[in-house]
Parts: sequence; structure tokens; C-alpha cells
Amino acid sequence: MPVILAIESSCDETSAAILDDGRVLSNIIANQTIHSEYGGVVPELASRAHQENIVPTVAQALKKAGKNLKDLEAIGITIGPGLLGSLLVGVSFAKALAYSLDIPLIQVNHMQAHILAHFIEPPYPTFPFICLTVSGGHTQLVLVKSHYDMEIIGQTLDDAAGEAFDKCGKIFGLGYPAGPLIDRLAQQHQADLQFPEPQIPGYDFSFSGLKTSILYHVRQQKNIDPDYLTKNIGNLCASLQHTIVQILIKKLTKAALEFNVREVAIAGGVSANGGLRKALEEAGIQHRWKTFVPKFEYCTDNAAMIGIAAHYKYLAGEFSPLDITPSARLPF
Ligand code: KG4
Ligand code: ZN
Repeated sequence: MPVILAIESSCDETSAAILDDGRVLSNIIANQTIHSEYGGVVPELASRAHQENIVPTVAQALKKAGKNLKDLEAIGITIGPGLLGSLLVGVSFAKALAYSLDIPLIQVNHMQAHILAHFIEPPYPTFPFICLTVSGGHTQLVLVKSHYDMEIIGQTLDDAAGEAFDKCGKIFGLGYPAGPLIDRLAQQHQADLQFPEPQIPGYDFSFSGLKTSILYHVRQQKNIDPDYLTKNIGNLCASLQHTIVQILIKKLTKAALEFNVREVAIAGGVSANGGLRKALEEAGIQHRWKTFVPKFEYCTDNAAMIGIAAHYKYLAGEFSPLDITPSARLPF
């Protein structure tokens, strides 16, 4: 069964994984620390870092898996959505390697791969299930009917959930990405502040109003007390996290009830959030759903999820020509 090299380079992580018959033998992630001083990912710097990282990352993934280039039977590659320059580095590398080894190339949609991360290790969800995919660039409610038949039933109209964490973190004076730090601070503090939740019909989301109200709140309080942020950072983080989690869980619950599914999952970088994981578990107990959260290492961007998505495509004989081009915006 196929030995697959998978590569992920859509944002600020260069990652390579080796899967043997769907089993992850290695999953190497090179994080790019350069962006933290800019308060967000700088696309041009990301592409350059991918170019530096890609050869050693792939070499390390092969070494850790105990495999050689000649053992590879296919290459899975993220084709989008993401930063175009970053995607181009991964796609060009993957094409060249597939051509030189004369093995098939398999293009993978990054957002579908976040969902398919649930099939890396059991217990696997059964179809159909609803997945809330929450990352730095996307917030989607997806009805998952099979490994590749997925329907987006709702999404954000402006900022993504991860973006809301990161942008509000910037207002709080925290580094990038702020999500993990807000999560840690929120765990140690009470959420006493009330921020408005958007009233968006259907299954769509909006987070830009929350960001604005946080900005005004912090500005106003700093005028009264210049040390407001330092004194209240824990409460601010806990209250922000609580509001974001409430917005997400309410829509997820509405979708699961109206589509009458019994299994519910979360995926993407924000699914690492302790508050969201706990709220999902509680909703699961209340509504008697089976709930699924990915292992931490498979929440944020990684090549293992690209590998499992490529594995299922390999089994279905879905290979890609060598003239594929990446796309910054890519529907399913
Ligand atoms: O899926 P991902 O690694 O990359 C994208 O495809 O965007 O998600 C990154 C996002 C960032 O916005 C980051 O702040 C957020 O996930 N994130 C978190 C946590 N860990 C990562 N947000 C809240 N709590 C966390 N523990
Ligand atoms: Zn992602």
C-alpha cells in the first residue's frame, strides 16, 4: 500500500510527512519565527523561509521514517487555499520531485485536509458528520458526507476565528500568533467582561464587530487607567475567548440539530483551544452527540493531514497532472 510523501506550505509552517498505508511514520514541522516581530505573517518572508526549509524538512521526514526517495510511491501537496508565494514553493518542489521519481502527484485542498485529520488515528467519525473548521484564515461549518464529498453550509463573512484571537491579541499587546497565549491566560482567569455577540442569520459567522468593540473598550479604559491592560490581561483574554467560543458553539449546535447529525467534530488551529474543546464536550453530553477533536499536533498546520487526504485520493485513483497551479482561494 502506498508510501506517500506529503508537503504543506500554505502559510507559515513548512511541513513534510511520510505515511505508509495511511500510517504516519513522520511529521516534521518547521515553524517560522520571523513573523512574530511583525504581528502577523509577512507573505514574502514566508515564501523565502519555505524555500530555505523545504529541502531539510523533507530530508528529515524521510530519515525519521526510515525511508529513501526510491521508496516513495506518490507525493501529496497542498494546492490551496493559502498564501500564493508560499504555496508555489511547495507545489514547484513537489512537481519536480514527482517528475524526477516518476511517481504520481496528488493535489490536496488544505481545508479538506484539516477535516480529514480526523482519519489519521481512530476513533474515526462516521458519515455524515458536521465539522467546524476554525483556523487563522477560515471559519467554516461543513457537512461531511464522505472523505471527499463535503458541503460548506456556513462561513465567516469577515475575520476568521483565529484571526479574531490574533487581532485582539495584538490590541492586548501580545505577540503573534496570540491564540495559544490567550488560551493559556484564559485558563487561569475568570471571564467577567461582556462583549456583544453578532446576530448573523443562518450558519454564517462574523468576528469583526467583536474586534472593534474590544478595541474601543481597551482604548476607553486606558484613558482612565494607563495600566489597564497589564492589570486586566487575564480577564480580557478569558472574556474574549468565552465570547468567541460561544459564537462558534451556538452555530455548531444549530447546524448539528437542524441537519440531525449525531457526530460533531472540530478542526483547524483554533480547535487546539482549551475553551472550545471543553465547550464541545459539554454540548456533546447535553445533546448526546459523539464529539471528535484532533490530537494537538494535528490541529495546527501539518503535513500528516495532507498525507491522509492524499492517501484516500490515491486509493480512489485521483492523481493530478504536472501542470497544476496553486490557488490562494480554493473552493472544495
Ligand atoms: O490551522 P492553522 O495552523 O493555520 C491556518 O490554516 O490558518 O491555524 C492558525 C490559527 C492562528 O490564528 C492561531 O492563533 C490559532 O490558530 N490557534 C489558536 C490556538 N492554537 C492556535 N487559537 C486559540 N487557541 C489556541 N490554543
Ligand atoms: Zn490550516
